[in-house]
Amino acid sequence: MKKVIALEALALLSVVGLNACTASQKETNEMNKDPKILVAYFSWSGNTRDAAQYIAQKLGADEFEVIREKDYPADYQACTEDAKTEKEADERPAIKGAVENIDQYDVVFIGVPVWWYTAPMPVFTFIEQHDLKGKTVIPFCTCYTAEYETLNDIVKATPDSEHRDGLTIVTQEMGGKGMGEKHGQIDEWLA
Ligand SMILES: Cc1cc2nc3c(=O)[nH]c(=O)nc-3n(C[C@H](O)[C@H](O)[C@H](O)COP(=O)(O)O)c2cc1C
Repeated sequence: MKKVIALEALALLSVVGLNACTASQKETNEMNKDPKILVAYFSWSGNTRDAAQYIAQKLGADEFEVIREKDYPADYQACTEDAKTEKEADERPAIKGAVENIDQYDVVFIGVPVWWYTAPMPVFTFIEQHDLKGKTVIPFCTCYTAEYETLNDIVKATPDSEHRDGLTIVTQEMGGKGMGEKHGQIDEWLA
């Protein structure tokens, strides 16, 4: 009889032990899981697109390009005027598409060109249409002279997210020209 009870106790212990082991292994696996990363960006002439694609390729991240539903003018002067009107009215212009299953991402990079000292308005549409709560948001921008409040405006627009220091790339070129020379700056920042 004693032998039977001892054997049952042993069996019970091994089941409990096995469950405990499985649970802690699950936690370890979750902790070690690589973060899922999205690089969302807006780009008019190609500079920010170059940076975004470089970051995505380095980190094995997915990409999403924020595109205003109504195209911006291809002419620089006309584009600045369109963007200025939109900014002054604090508009949220419609954008094309949406990120499929935003919930799957742990980290979201948001890349923008500086437009009138801040981010282009479609970027705020993007932020407001996607739930970034609890995610780590990392802003970056390209600009002709300085970032002004651009990175901070992205941080302010995502108050329920965590943040990491952003990156500002200054370039006097357009169309993605010369962006290759900025990849070293991106590498240092990512490191
Ligand atoms: C509508 C518009 C507004 C801009 N406003 C600024 C600005 O306020 N400050 C600045 O340094 N550069 C400004 N720029 C220059 C862009 O930020 C810069 O050329 C950027 O690298 C372009 O990025 P993209 O090629 O991804 O569009 C502006 C450009 C445009 C088209």
